[in-house]
Amino acid sequence: MRQGDRSFGLYVHWPFCKAKCPYCDFNSHVSEQVDYARFQAGMLAEMRHLAGRLEQPPRLNSIFFGGGTPSLMPPDLIEAILNKAEQIFGFAKNIEITTEANPTSVEAASLGAFKAAGVNRVSLGIQALDPAQLQFLGREHSVNEALDALALARDLFNMVSIDLIYGLPEQTPKKWRSNLQQLVKLGLNHLSLYHLTIEPKTIFYTRWRRGEVLTGPDEVVANLFEMTNAIMEKAGLAAYEVSNYAREGHECRHNLTYWQAHDWLGVGPGAHSRFDNSGRRISLANRRNPKSWLETVEFKYHGIEKETIETPNGWASEMLMMGLRLKAGVNLSLIEQKCGPREFWINQGKLAMHVNDGRLQFLEHQNETRLATTPEGRLLLNSVLADIIK
Ligand SMILES: C[S@@+](CC[C@H](N)C(=O)[O-])C[C@H]1O[C@@H](n2cnc3c(N)ncnc32)[C@H](O)[C@@H]1O
Ligand code: SF4
Repeated sequence: MRQGDRSFGLYVHWPFCKAKCPYCDFNSHVSEQVDYARFQAGMLAEMRHLAGRLEQPPRLNSIFFGGGTPSLMPPDLIEAILNKAEQIFGFAKNIEITTEANPTSVEAASLGAFKAAGVNRVSLGIQALDPAQLQFLGREHSVNEALDALALARDLFNMVSIDLIYGLPEQTPKKWRSNLQQLVKLGLNHLSLYHLTIEPKTIFYTRWRRGEVLTGPDEVVANLFEMTNAIMEKAGLAAYEVSNYAREGHECRHNLTYWQAHDWLGVGPGAHSRFDNSGRRISLANRRNPKSWLETVEFKYHGIEKETIETPNGWASEMLMMGLRLKAGVNLSLIEQKCGPREFWINQGKLAMHVNDGRLQFLEHQNETRLATTPEGRLLLNSVLADIIK
């Protein structure tokens, strides 16, 4: 960590996938041909450019290769990025270097080379443990392939997480409980368990608009969420964030950097950067389209499309929106230090109402006043945030 307890991360976005999943609104594209050498040159140039935006580039606490499907990246491209990142920023002791990976057998075969390149954590997109659910989600892998990839990842890496999506139409509490129990028996240290959300501009969205039922009923999904929390808690994997469960000490350091509104740089198409600069919060957004990002970066050494200096209210909103996802909540005095008295950025009446109704709570922690959601509030987080943010 730097500057007391602030952390600094690097996100690298690989925007390509073998196929587009019908539920996915991430910046991911299917392309027959990818010019790896051009992408490598573009990513290294952008990293150098972004480092120059910081007053004093700090050491990196974490790097995260996300996508798209970064497990389709050639390992020597990952290695080139890691070498350059170490040269430019330096690595903190115990740096966490994660790559997302899809569990097809072809991609699992690259995991050894990723480890040799310097990756030390893998987040595997298992998504479901039932063949019909995988088919519903349009996945390219079978349950057995996913479990084999998981076993291989655990042989190779000390830090392995898996992603699953729940709240599917035919998913009963009984089925989901047995999936969770199967995973708990494996002794995993970190899981990301997401409700299926129907995102605009996806195939699921079009089908949903036509009247197809693609998610379970709200009350069943709420029930599954509560059951998930209870099973995970009992297994020693607390919900440290709305959708993330970990044994103590195994929380994803990179994602904590986002949720604690610390600083990070984002390289690649559609990546975002956020950092403090002379007491101001800077926010950068890269061009999303891979071709236009590449052409821009080759011309300007960066693919930034939008640059914003956050207003104090914008910054306070970021800290509330991200921090209230965490079980530990946000430090209200810290937000006041950066953004001014709380009456400017929080609706005090609505805050009191949600505290009274048991959706928000104040926590006293080492002389800090923290605001956190209760388990009930976490389920209704979006509407709570819409109410309290000014
Ligand atoms: C960047 S995505 C995908 C990473 C990787 N390409 C894969 O498919 O496994 C990260 C995670 O977000 C989750 N996700 C994506 N779209 C979702 C949706 N509409 N609803 C719920 N979870 C979603 C999935 O669990 C996925 O693994
Ligand atoms: S879910 Fe993963 S594999 Fe599927 S389209 Fe999105 S990023 Fe690509």
